[in-house]
Amino acid sequence: MNRLNVERRLLGGCAAGALAASLLWASAGHALRAQAPDPQDVAEGMRIYRTKADCQSCHGWAADGRKMDTQMPDGANLRTTRLGRAGIVMAIKCGRPGRSMPAFDKFAYSDGRCNNMTQVDLKAKNLQLPEPAATLQPREIEMVTDFLFAKVIGQGTMDRAKCVEYWGSDQEVCSEFPK
Ligand code: HEC
Repeated sequence: MNRLNVERRLLGGCAAGALAASLLWASAGHALRAQAPDPQDVAEGMRIYRTKADCQSCHGWAADGRKMDTQMPDGANLRTTRLGRAGIVMAIKCGRPGRSMPAFDKFAYSDGRCNNMTQVDLKAKNLQLPEPAATLQPREIEMVTDFLFAKVIGQGTMDRAKCVEYWGSDQEVCSEFPK
């Protein structure tokens, strides 16, 4: 049975059916998106990761937790993260108060959108958040997430071939990996 037929059946008149059908649509859209992100969004997400948001200072250029700046906190290895898309977006938006992961949403802790907490709550609980290099628009957070799912998450350990693929050509940094 194809998807449309399934949906027609689910639609069968009742509200629960309609809800199930819309959930089906939503998850189908989600799966499509996860499979085929726009290559331009991926490229822009990689640029934001490396420069504007400077994620690499803590997470490393390969996002494997080998940080670029020894003065910075140890970022998680994002290649082996178990988070799904929503979890990744949430981590970037809201950061991890008290755990050295900055929040990149400008309003993360001003209107309660993150865990229903504000700056006042963070202070009361003595939860520190490092300043991000820059805050990001929701669209930019989506692009960084597209980049992570396309080139980082579940891609295994970085090696020579993956390094060349990652950068689009054989870069100086790739020479650390044996051919
Ligand atoms: C100041 C250092 C720092 C910067 C900059 C930083 N992170 Fe993090 N990040 C961390 C640390 C430390 C953790 C682990 C937090 C914890 O223990 O829960 C983390 C956790 C995460 C997680 C959750 C991983 C998991 O599996 O739970 C994601 C996703 C993430 N960072 C993405 C990013 C992205 C994308 C950027 C840039 C937009 C970024 N980080 C910038 C330090 C940083």
